[in-house]
Amino acid sequence: MSSTHSPSANDTIPSLSDLEKTCWQQLDQSIHAHGSADSAFRNMTVATCASRGADARIVVLRDVDVAHKYVWFHTDARTEKVLQLEEFPQAMLLFWNESEQVQFRLTVETRLHTDDYLADEQWKKVHDGSVRLYMSELMPGSVQDSPYPGFPEHIKDGTITTEDRSSARLNFAAIECRVLCMEYLKLGKQGQTRARFQYEPVSKMTWLAP
Ligand SMILES: Cc1cc2nc3c(=O)[nH]c(=O)nc-3n(C[C@H](O)[C@H](O)[C@H](O)COP(=O)(O)O)c2cc1C
Repeated sequence: MSSTHSPSANDTIPSLSDLEKTCWQQLDQSIHAHGSADSAFRNMTVATCASRGADARIVVLRDVDVAHKYVWFHTDARTEKVLQLEEFPQAMLLFWNESEQVQFRLTVETRLHTDDYLADEQWKKVHDGSVRLYMSELMPGSVQDSPYPGFPEHIKDGTITTEDRSSARLNFAAIECRVLCMEYLKLGKQGQTRARFQYEPVSKMTWLAP
């Protein structure tokens, strides 16, 4: 797939709707491209609310539904972020493309999927190489006396068995993120370009002063 470029202040200013399309296209490309310029939005920061304050961490963008404006990430169902999202489902997803100097901020409403059809569909996308991420024998985030790699000893060099996949599945959570609003910011020597694409409660696109 060919690379799509965000406009700089030197380029012709695109229409808001063309810009919005490009943003979603870039997110979608990121999940299919590994290690190339197109994968710049593959990692994102998920900022959550917690009763003790704000929290944030990096996760991998796993799925994008351009037509319905949903994005997905995967995690261990026992992690702190899952507890936080159960209590406060709204979150911010933050993306940064260094080479394009573009930031996306997505305001999302999340839903956790652990044992339904949608979780099963997402689980099918988890390659054997990533199965061990869901095989920790110890509670994620729990205090330990010494470093722990996050999976059982036999997984280290061995192949993943059907039993391994089944036990990992029990810890798997797919997080559905319904995008309520996307904010675009591009930095440039000639100035910045900022826009907001709102989807809910009403659909509205607008330029913003940076
Ligand atoms: C590049 C990178 C990618 C990561 N991807 C994920 C991911 O897809 N899912 C995940 O749960 N944690 C991922 N992590 C680990 C999280 O940042 C975090 O440390 C972990 O999920 C525990 O977070 P929590 O205690 O806030 O739940 C990633 C970390 C890095 C540095």
